[in-house]
Amino acid sequence: MSESQQDDMQIPLQSPRADARLRPLKGLILAGGKGSRLRPLTATGAKQLVPVANKPVLFYALEQLVEAGIEEIGIITGDSGGQVREAIGDGSQFGAQITYIPQDAPLGLAHAVLTGREFLGESPFCMYLGDNFLRRGIVGHAERFRHSGAAGQILLKKVDDTSALGVAVLDANGKVQQLVEKPKIPISPYAVVGVYFFGPEIHDVVPGLVPSARGELEITDAIQGLIDAGNEVDASLIDDVWIDTGKKDDMLEANRVVLSGITRRIDGEVDSASVLVGEVIIEEGAEICGSSVRGPAIIGKGARLDGAFVGPFTAIGDRVHLESCEIEHSIVLADSSVKNITRRISDSLIGREVVIQRTDHRPHVMRLMIGDHGQLDIS
Ligand code: G1P
Repeated sequence: MSESQQDDMQIPLQSPRADARLRPLKGLILAGGKGSRLRPLTATGAKQLVPVANKPVLFYALEQLVEAGIEEIGIITGDSGGQVREAIGDGSQFGAQITYIPQDAPLGLAHAVLTGREFLGESPFCMYLGDNFLRRGIVGHAERFRHSGAAGQILLKKVDDTSALGVAVLDANGKVQQLVEKPKIPISPYAVVGVYFFGPEIHDVVPGLVPSARGELEITDAIQGLIDAGNEVDASLIDDVWIDTGKKDDMLEANRVVLSGITRRIDGEVDSASVLVGEVIIEEGAEICGSSVRGPAIIGKGARLDGAFVGPFTAIGDRVHLESCEIEHSIVLADSSVKNITRRISDSLIGREVVIQRTDHRPHVMRLMIGDHGQLDIS
């Protein structure tokens, strides 16, 4: 038991902050930011709404907070706030009460804490980055924080490349000594996961931060400030799957992880000429005609497959139409269509309302209409 926890127990009501620790945790989900690594998808939509197994990645964070008993949740939004609001509503479908908190500009994670100051009050809270994905959720971490009395708790994951992440340097006893954002030289293999627990002490530190070289108020600097002011910051090394879903391959990996855990459910129509193998979800209103789906895979509501093959680790969005084509290890967002393509599509992330088709018009050339930052690999 930590000293501060003993203090809390002996004089529980003396300090409003000690008292705050006994109150339920609030949640703060960050759903702003530009999503530049997922363009062009994020040119028109929030990166946190890109689906993993046909569910926006942000929903996993929301569900995991609720699962950990955190129901009063603030969502920090940016330019795509309208879409986030539309997708989540008042939160009742998740068993949460949601407060939307617009952030003027994406000025960093610690700036988001500043933006959420009024909502957070003196409550301890869990801040969950809306583009981060943890397979096993946060129940145990939240429990640990509720009981520890620490001013902060971070999750660390050993990774090979830390250059695009925050890292923590630990001392011989596993205590956090130093935090560095996106280190140029690899000083620690322990990346800071985008799920943080803070007591109200964080609000003493954040107003004094200065913007980093990238012009942001960094959460790593805030945590360092907590430590420098003599507060206890706990760290747990996790062995869970953690994915920062900033890029296409990260989305495909998260999709693979979730699909690996699905169980077969057929709510749509499957004709007798079709074959479903393994763990396959066919949502209501989907029609599978003369096609073959090899799981794990999910076919969204109202989707239609005609003479198509959908291979493992593929999520086909709502109302997508696949005809005479083959696709595997891919994500296709809602309302797109792929028709009469002879080469199998693999490792792909295809946006909303995309049309991929074969035409027989002369000249036999490729006619492309691809958004900014799009990528087409042709072999
Ligand atoms: C942010 C944090 C970084 C953390 C990462 C986790 O990075 O600044 O410390 O490791 O999230 O996803 P950003 O997404 O802002 O580059």
